[in-house]
Amino acid sequence: MLQTFNPKNKDIEIWVKDGLFKRSDAKVSVFDSSVQGGDAVWEGIRLYSDGLFCLDQHLNRLYHSAKALAFEDIPSEAFIKNAIYETLTQNQMKDEVHIRLTLTRGEKITSGMDPRLNQFGCCLIVLAEHKPLVYNNQTGIKVISTAVQRNSPRHLDSKIHHNNLLNNILAKIQANFAGVDAGLMLDAYGFLAELNGSNLFVIRKGVVYTPTADACLNGITRSMVMSICQSLSIPIVEKNISLSEAYSADSVFATGSMGELTPVIEIDGRSISYHHGLFDQIATAFQAIIPLHCEPILSLKSSPTG
Ligand SMILES: Cc1ncc(COP(=O)(O)O)c(C=O)c1O
Repeated sequence: MLQTFNPKNKDIEIWVKDGLFKRSDAKVSVFDSSVQGGDAVWEGIRLYSDGLFCLDQHLNRLYHSAKALAFEDIPSEAFIKNAIYETLTQNQMKDEVHIRLTLTRGEKITSGMDPRLNQFGCCLIVLAEHKPLVYNNQTGIKVISTAVQRNSPRHLDSKIHHNNLLNNILAKIQANFAGVDAGLMLDAYGFLAELNGSNLFVIRKGVVYTPTADACLNGITRSMVMSICQSLSIPIVEKNISLSEAYSADSVFATGSMGELTPVIEIDGRSISYHHGLFDQIATAFQAIIPLHCEPILSLKSSPTG
């Protein structure tokens, strides 16, 4: 297993709706939409010593997802930032922290699908945990292509970062049974979409390719990597990529807030030759830009009613 229980998280406090609760008391109602239908949206945000990485991009995507699902009574940006501030300061968290920021449609007056039953406003959860990078970026990860497709916009659009994660969980289960680290998900046409929890890049002959964002989350780390390539004049192309192109790539890597940039060293039993050059150049540039995109914790503080 990639993650284990971290004793540093034993007594953390977690923000639920409008205040902080001890880990053992932090709960949502059985009438909450997330329990009833996975009806919630979320972001994974990393805290570095300089602050929260790309916080505004994460909040923009959270609001985009909530609007797509027609949530009502969504907390203001000032409220969310202040809740993050309160959570991090109460837990004395400064670095190597991962925040699972969840916004549910809220509590219902009775069980049922109809969002009109949600009459108490959204429920914000700020779950901040001490969590180093989930993957070992020195050794890399092994993956298999799974039978579980990533959704096209015709189904539940993959650009909505929602809590209905069963597709991705099924892909991860398949990877677990195969004894590898992650499940690679294809789109409806059999092209690479992404891993079950991170985006993919393929390097071939000096060109960096990434799947079009038609059937994957438009990851924030993904877009950072694309701008890094542009600023370093490394050719970067969004296109449909087949498995066979990935098997014979010079390098493949995954990107996400959980693990930053992670080499993929095996796909379906084929080892991916690992040519350090271009990947290392991009990974080094990524480390250099982290402080430039961090929002300091202190700047989040405001009136909780804001
Ligand atoms: C399915 C999926 N793909 C990719 C990512 C990576 O996105 P980001 O770089 O914004 O963390 C995530 C992160 O939550 C994810 O859940």
